[in-house]
Amino acid sequence: MNIILLGPPGAGKGTQASRLIDKYGIPQISTGDMLRAALKEGTPLGLEAKKFMDQGALVPDTVVIGLVKERIQKPDCTKGYMLDGFPRNVSQAEALDSMLGDLSQKIDHVVCIEVPSEELLGRLTGRRTCRSCGAGYHIRFDPPKKDGTCDKCAGELYQRDDDNEATVSSRLKVYDDQTKPLIDYYSKQGKLRPVNGVGSMDEIFSRITAVLG
Ligand code: AP5
Ligand code: MG
Repeated sequence: MNIILLGPPGAGKGTQASRLIDKYGIPQISTGDMLRAALKEGTPLGLEAKKFMDQGALVPDTVVIGLVKERIQKPDCTKGYMLDGFPRNVSQAEALDSMLGDLSQKIDHVVCIEVPSEELLGRLTGRRTCRSCGAGYHIRFDPPKKDGTCDKCAGELYQRDDDNEATVSSRLKVYDDQTKPLIDYYSKQGKLRPVNGVGSMDEIFSRITAVLG
């Protein structure tokens, strides 16, 4: 099963993906995580991407399309995969359709996690992530047992550079202008599965698994 997780910054794509990995046994492919990993390694691609990410802007299409094309052909993707944060505009969606056509693959479901914008800023500014294992937390909604320390691996928790108020507002605008048109794009393909993203993380997980079957 090949899935796209669509939704604004802070909708819970990463949170739900980590639960879906366990249930369906398919990998999460997050372009945001891949770009942050490239930056951590100090590669030219990572350093170039940082300029865009710090402004809340999209990294050029050619960069992310290339990353995804390579990633979906890895052996762990043979049973399927979850794309998180890709595609992010219509031209990325068209490039995806074309690369999947070449590979005789298709997207089965586009899960769109819907959360009103008023709720997103608080989710993003309170998010903390583990530097070692990547686990996600929230200082109020999903706090770690010990402040600043990952429950799973005792790694250090950090705040993403783009989770400040100014960058979040640019990211939300970019979502409205460039990513929202994908709702119509996938609705026309009959693949859109809207899911209410307000409620507990468990409730949202149940709603998603209900639409995926
Ligand atoms: P990316 O990393 O993809 O970020 P994003 O889309 O902005 O989404 P987030 O990761 O911020 O949110 P999420 O939906 O995963 O929420 P989470 O589960 O963590 O992209 C970052 C940047 O990379 C982009 O701005 C761009 O520059 C670049 N980029 C990436 N992909 C690209 C592409 N394809 N093309 C071009 N550029 C690209 O949850 C958020 C918080 O809320 C957490 O603290 C969590 O604990 C909490 N939370 C989750 N669910 C709930 C709930 N139900 N109730 C309360 N709190 C909750
Ligand atoms: Mg994420």
